[in-house]
Amino acid sequence: MDMNIDIAATPEDVVQRCARHVIDQLQAALDARGVARIALAGGTTPRRLYAELAQNHSNDIDWSSVEFYFGDERNVPLDHPDSNFRMASESLFTPLGIAPRRLFPIVSPQQRDPEYDAENYERQLRTWSSGPVPTLDIALLGMGEDGHFASLFPDTLALNERERLVVVNPIPKLHAHRLTMTFPMFEAARSVCFLVTGANKHDAFASLRGNDMDTPTRRLIQSRATDWFVDQACAEGSGP
Ligand code: 6PG
Repeated sequence: MDMNIDIAATPEDVVQRCARHVIDQLQAALDARGVARIALAGGTTPRRLYAELAQNHSNDIDWSSVEFYFGDERNVPLDHPDSNFRMASESLFTPLGIAPRRLFPIVSPQQRDPEYDAENYERQLRTWSSGPVPTLDIALLGMGEDGHFASLFPDTLALNERERLVVVNPIPKLHAHRLTMTFPMFEAARSVCFLVTGANKHDAFASLRGNDMDTPTRRLIQSRATDWFVDQACAEGSGP
């Protein structure tokens, strides 16, 4: 359980430190292979990270050689307010002028059957894979209060998927289906970076090193090294 934890006083400090880490990871990939492949996180927390990257790191790397994927997506159109792709487009892709050919949303523009989109995404991932599981350079993740990451929620079917790389996962507590990469993709990534802030995440974060809650995030960190960028409120349960 190799957790490399960086604790900063405020969410703003966390985002700045996480942004520099992401830039370093992307540059290392560009240096080694001439291309960098990142899977973005959804939700609300990463929006500030994407804005930081767009506003203060636009000249730090060759963004035109970065391919943008998603660890998960809601089953909604790409322009829907709940779409992770829309959130990333507003905060990162549009401000940086990322070419559409470098963007790989999970949900198709026509928003066909989600099963078709999940299978098609897996085919897309495998086009650049030389091994059994495509190797992302960095998987950026958030964590829910229940210890979920991406759309791998506790007690859901996708947790046990070991063959398929992208699936439609029914989430009873949300009364919705989500599309998500599965554990093999996150286990194989060259680096996994969690960005988690807020006292509301303290219990889930603290349980990662206890034995009381077996969550999807705890399962991932037991399988590989992970980098964490958290604020004091998340780490200690109290803000500055
Ligand atoms: C999503 C994310 C999800 C998110 C966590 C934390 O599509 O919502 O993939 O896993 O990272 O739920 O969300 P917040 O950042 O909004 O707390």
